[in-house]
Amino acid sequence: MKIIALLLALITAFSLFACNKGGNNSSYITTSESTTPDTTEPEGTTEEETTTEETTTEATTTEPYEPIYEDGGFTYKIDVRKYLQYIDPANDTEYLIIANRKHPLGSSYTPKNLTYVAEGQSWLLRRAAKEAFEAMRLEMQALGVYDTYNRSTYRSYSFQSILYNQYLERDMKKYPHLSREQVMIIVDTYSARPGTSDHQTGLTIDFNPLNESFANLKAYKYMKDNAHKFGFILRYPKGKENVTGYKFEPWHWRFVGRDTATYIYEHGITLEEYMALKNGTEVEYFSEVELPPLTPPATTIPDATTPPDDTTTPDETTVPDDTTTPDETTPTETTDDVTTTDDVTTEDITTAEEVTTTAETTVPEQTTEAETSVSVGLPDHEFT
Ligand code: DAL
Ligand code: ZN
Repeated sequence: MKIIALLLALITAFSLFACNKGGNNSSYITTSESTTPDTTEPEGTTEEETTTEETTTEATTTEPYEPIYEDGGFTYKIDVRKYLQYIDPANDTEYLIIANRKHPLGSSYTPKNLTYVAEGQSWLLRRAAKEAFEAMRLEMQALGVYDTYNRSTYRSYSFQSILYNQYLERDMKKYPHLSREQVMIIVDTYSARPGTSDHQTGLTIDFNPLNESFANLKAYKYMKDNAHKFGFILRYPKGKENVTGYKFEPWHWRFVGRDTATYIYEHGITLEEYMALKNGTEVEYFSEVELPPLTPPATTIPDATTPPDDTTTPDETTVPDDTTTPDETTPTETTDDVTTTDDVTTEDITTAEEVTTTAETTVPEQTTEAETSVSVGLPDHEFT
C-alpha cells in the first residue's frame, strides 16, 4: 500500500495540474440571480427517526490531547484496537465504489453485510463502515466534539426514488413558473436520482443538521481534519462540484478505508479524482449547470397614467388576465412522468405509491459478513 501511495503521490502532482486546467469550479453551478435554490428538506415530514446519540456532548476538549493509542502513524484518544480491522481493512478495494450520475449502481444493487448502526435504530451500514463510525464517534465523544448525531445512512433504490420525487414535487410547488425539466436541473444539484446515490453503497453517513450550518459545528471542524484516521472522507467538498456533480454537503461522509481516506485528505481531492488516478484514467467532469431563473419574470401592468388610445374610459381597477398566479397546489404533471437525462431510464423512477406497497422492511438477522439483502421502509423524515 505504501508503494502504491508513493506512486499515486507522483501521479497526483502531475494529474491535478492537468485536471485543474479542465474545470472552473466556482462557475460550475450558475444562476442569473443572487438567490440559490433551497436545498432544505421537503415539507410534511418529521424528524422522528431515532439517533445514535440523542443528547449532544458539550465540547470541552480539543487538541492537544494525551493519545492513548497509536497505529500506523495515527494517534487516538481511545483504544481503537478492536476497530482497526475495519478502519484499515486488508482489502480496501471493495470499499472503492463510485456511485454518481455517470456511474449508476442500478436498481438491483444491494451492498454486502448491512448491519444496524445501533440497537433500536433502523439505520444500516456495511459492517466496516458501521464499526469505523462507532470508533470515530467514541473518539469524538472522548474529545467532547460530538455535537451531532447520525441520520441517513444506507438508502435502497426504492427509498431514493421516493426522496428524489419528494424533492421534485416540493420544488415544483416552490417554483411554479418552471417546467418539470427545469426543476429537475435544480433538484439534481443536491439529490441523487435513484440508482446513482452514494447512500446506496451502504458506506455513507449523513450527520445532523442536513444543511450547510453543519460546517459550523465542532463535529465538522474535527471531522474535516481527522475523519480520515477512521477511513472517512468528505464526499462532496466545496469547489469540487464539477467533479462530484453536487453542491457542498458538509454533513455527508463516506467510508473508503484509512489508506484511501488519508491519501484523499492529504491531497485535497475527491473520490472521483482518486479513482481516476488509481485506474490511470481521466477525471470525468460534469458539464456546467445553469440554473433556471428562481423567481418568475416580472408581470407588466399597464401604466395607468398613459392616456388610452380611444375615448372609452379604462377600468383601472381591472388587473390584466396574465397576472394570475399559477395554482401552486396543482402540478401540471404527475410524479410518474419523471424522465431522466442520464443513465436512469423513465421506468427506473419508482413512485411513492408503488413503493408503499413493496418496500417492506427486511431485517438482517445477523451482523456477519454474509451477503444480506435489505430494504428500508418509507421515509418518515428528511434526507439529502
Ligand atoms: N444528497 C446526495 C447527493 C444524495 O442524494 O445521494
Ligand atoms: Zn447524504
